[in-house]
Amino acid sequence: MRIFLTGATGYIGRAVLDALVRGGHQVTALVRDNQKAKRVASRGGQPLVGNLGDPDSYRAAADAQDGYVHTAYDDATGRGPVVDRIALDTLIAAARRPRTVSAATPARRFVFYTSEPWVLGRTSDPVAEDAPINPIALASWRPDHERLVIAAGSAELRTIVIRPGVVYGGGDGMVGDLFKSAANGLVRVVGDGNNRWPLIYDRDLADLYVRLAQHEDASGIFHANDEGDERLNDIVSAIGPHLAHRPDVRHVPLDEARAKMGDYADALSLDQVVRSPRARAIGWAPTLHSVAGNAARLLGEWKAARA
Ligand SMILES: NC(=O)c1ccc[n+]([C@@H]2O[C@H](COP(=O)([O-])OP(=O)(O)OC[C@H]3O[C@@H](n4cnc5c(N)ncnc54)[C@H](OP(=O)(O)O)[C@@H]3O)[C@@H](O)[C@H]2O)c1
Repeated sequence: MRIFLTGATGYIGRAVLDALVRGGHQVTALVRDNQKAKRVASRGGQPLVGNLGDPDSYRAAADAQDGYVHTAYDDATGRGPVVDRIALDTLIAAARRPRTVSAATPARRFVFYTSEPWVLGRTSDPVAEDAPINPIALASWRPDHERLVIAAGSAELRTIVIRPGVVYGGGDGMVGDLFKSAANGLVRVVGDGNNRWPLIYDRDLADLYVRLAQHEDASGIFHANDEGDERLNDIVSAIGPHLAHRPDVRHVPLDEARAKMGDYADALSLDQVVRSPRARAIGWAPTLHSVAGNAARLLGEWKAARA
């Protein structure tokens, strides 16, 4: 299939690009400069230099696609939600325009939107995709974008919202930050650390995107979690033994953390137990189910990615 991917140089998008290319798909990837274009080309994607906030830079290329996978997020400008909305409007409009048909053309085009479980708020009892939303402040704008995507679904277009857990693997993300702090000798944990993050290994998450692209009946909301329900304290404790020096661990009261990092403190201390029954129903099964249980391997991945 011909797939248009945003965010191919990012944490999630890189893994999705690799998995789509491995799956034999032709991926056009929006990147912001020539250096990143080279990186994407070396991974088997067809780069297109442009910017999410400037639809003219990618509208024409987006027309000729069978599917759209949006993983990009503009975190640096303070206009993240605004740029995200521009991107969704542009991709959905492209997905509704006529396309050229080839032997590999699927019957329905698709648009995938990468959201986050923070739209669910605190969920100390397990919740699935049908749970009511109750977003934390950081994700307060997200439900509108999820609704926009779901409402765009039709007989000709299937639309999907994916809510990945906190991604681990390689050198990035919130778990990568834990490895970094531990390697530097001090891990600050917001709150008492008994909270559970919903988690997912980057390659398992990418496998779900590919399965959803190939599953012509799939639409709606999909959670993506390893369902390990690990407590943050257990993850932090598991890292120390694999380092030359055990790091100190400091539990920072939520109010103190909020004063320093704002709403992100609430995200870090959120307790969430999330299930992914809809993804499992299409045959998806994560290969990893624990950060703590794979701490040595994941620390090795983190070091290799940083090297
Ligand atoms: N990481 C997680 O644990 C996690 C979990 C759940 C949901 N999510 C959500 O998934 C999405 C992606 O997360 P991530 O961790 O992969 O983020 P990331 O590593 O920061 O990657 C963001 C990607 O978006 C691209 N981008 C940013 N602004 C752009 C613009 N104006 N035009 C074109 N491309 C632009 C970046 O390109 P450059 O390389 O040029 O910067 C990069 O490829 C976000 O919406 C995030 O909230 C993430």
